[in-house]
Amino acid sequence: MEQRYRYEVLPLDTPDGDPHWEAYANIFRTVFLEDRVSPEGIAVFRQHRRDDQAVLGMVTADGPGLEGRVPIAGFNATPSTVNDGHGPRPALIVNTVGVLPSHRRRGLLNEMMRRQLDLARAERIPIAVLTASEATIYGRFGFGPASRWQSLEIDTGRFGFRAGVEVAGGAVEFVAPSFLGADWDRLVEAHQARHRGTVGHTKADRLIDTGAWDPAAGGPSKTLRAVAHFDVDGSMDGFALFRFKGWDEHPKAQVLKVCAPEIAVERALWRALTGMDLVQTLVFHGSSPSDPLPLSLLDARAVKVKGVGDSVWLRILDLPDAVAGRAFDADGELVLQVDDAMGYAAGTWRLTVSGGVGSCLPTDSEPDVRLAVDTLALLWHGDRGAGEVARAGLIGGTDRAVAAMGRLFRWDEPTANLASF
Ligand SMILES: CC(C)(COP(=O)(O)OP(=O)(O)OC[C@H]1O[C@@H](n2cnc3c(N)ncnc32)[C@H](O)[C@@H]1OP(=O)(O)O)[C@@H](O)C(=O)NCCC(=O)NCCS
Repeated sequence: MEQRYRYEVLPLDTPDGDPHWEAYANIFRTVFLEDRVSPEGIAVFRQHRRDDQAVLGMVTADGPGLEGRVPIAGFNATPSTVNDGHGPRPALIVNTVGVLPSHRRRGLLNEMMRRQLDLARAERIPIAVLTASEATIYGRFGFGPASRWQSLEIDTGRFGFRAGVEVAGGAVEFVAPSFLGADWDRLVEAHQARHRGTVGHTKADRLIDTGAWDPAAGGPSKTLRAVAHFDVDGSMDGFALFRFKGWDEHPKAQVLKVCAPEIAVERALWRALTGMDLVQTLVFHGSSPSDPLPLSLLDARAVKVKGVGDSVWLRILDLPDAVAGRAFDADGELVLQVDDAMGYAAGTWRLTVSGGVGSCLPTDSEPDVRLAVDTLALLWHGDRGAGEVARAGLIGGTDRAVAAMGRLFRWDEPTANLASF
């Protein structure tokens, strides 16, 4: 980094009136082409960053056009969790990254990334996750896409479950999003505990899901709607969030989230959503290629896939710790050579899995397979098989070794991440 730049962390106890808050929030507003942040927006940002114990990394500079030494680049990260099969374990969420256009391509992202990942590693956080605005930025930092989103369009008139597919009894009710507040934490945590590959929700997610904050409106949401499911004892056991899209040719609603730890409750929520009079089409961007919904329908063509893209990007910072947190559905042993330009996971490792529990130790043995750390991410949540990744030219090794790796890393049950970051 040039000498005029300095890496710093904006302390969470920076006084509310300090102009650094506004300058920091406006970096992201500028680079993501949004309106300048309002006083209410700054207050909300400050509160949920404090509640989540975020690390507000930044690069400051002074010079013409800048009022003193101010942030001109930000890298906002949150300690969170990921459930890789043995329950929620520490993970770092990289929330937002931005460098003002006047300072880009001078190594500021490089510097902020290295500082935040070093800190996470020092705090024994074995995995970092993010979602990417562009596909070509994060591979160099060891991140690879570990899951994919899928966009669905559902014809409500053709929607119906096959006979024998269980749909939970109990009751559904259309409620104000704020009604979810009392049960929201319990339900998102139960969902994460039940599903592999899921990232913990943040306080910002809570504000958005309960309608308290709508980033687009810069205030409480007027458009968010919710439907809740209750078990036979009247306890809430799932919810869905949606928004009407208006009266065009086919009246539409957009489903934003379906959160139910039990799949039968999830189906009951889908039945409620598709049963709304006048809504002919539901769009849902939060599905994944392994979503079982279409298969459970009488008419699988009631659901059309309209798009697929990368979802959670993952970076392994400590391979032995990450392996200890990952469930394996098959036992076996494999020697992997992992290339990692940043060094965190580099080396040759013996991975041993017994009873679904993995351990990983450095070894001098000849590797069975060779791959880069961002390629390992493709397999980590079971989204891709080793064979397909090897055919893409990303794993070296004999067919036999690649097949063994495929068996070892395969997950019987797919991921179902709901958190957004
Ligand atoms: C993307 C962004 C953060 C990069 O910041 P930067 O300080 O210019 O990046 P650096 O100069 O540190 O470059 C780091 C590396 O990433 C590469 N890189 C930077 N921006 C890139 C881009 N948009 N696409 C592909 N590669 C990129 C650089 O070439 C460099 O590679 P190298 O180290 O191998 O030479 C910045 O341009 C930005 O804020 N863009 C708009 C907002 C955005 O997209 N944020 C990311 C959200 S997920």
